[in-house]
Amino acid sequence: MKAVCPGSFDPITHGHVDVIRRASALFDEVVVAVGRNSAKKYLFDTDERVELARAATSDLPGVRVEVLSGLLVDFCRDRGAEAVVKGLRFASDFDFELQMAHINNSLTGLETVLLPASAQWGTLSSTMIREVASLGGDVRAFVPALVADRIEQKRKTDG
Ligand code: PNS
Repeated sequence: MKAVCPGSFDPITHGHVDVIRRASALFDEVVVAVGRNSAKKYLFDTDERVELARAATSDLPGVRVEVLSGLLVDFCRDRGAEAVVKGLRFASDFDFELQMAHINNSLTGLETVLLPASAQWGTLSSTMIREVASLGGDVRAFVPALVADRIEQKRKTDG
């Protein structure tokens, strides 16, 4: 079976990679879908987020990364994916994911599998990574090395 792991991945964190790794152990193939949420302002553009997600998951067999444009249900149908896999950290994630799961299931019957985040990364978020990084903090413990390097580079060039 094939699953899709959708998200903004701005940037991809150890928490995301953990969920993708566990999804790849459950499904034959996993497509990481790098999307755009119109309500969000991004640190990295889509190409950069895709590049970093590819680098961070390159050692995972059966995992590939693509750009998500349009509806998630259409993306999944076009690729023959039966399920979406999302990580779940705290109650606010659940409220949002339940809403998404319901609407996606109503649209095409797409199923959603919610994986509890591993304890180590249970409260990690890209938003906090961006905040810490923008104020000069060290985020190397939370993101793959290439992501940390790219954040550092961006901070130096963008000021
Ligand atoms: O990491 P995020 O920001 O929660 O990811 C959100 C994303 C990109 C996965 C989500 O916005 C999405 O699925 N967008 C595709 C459009 C869609 O199908 N929306 C669901 C119906 S409202």
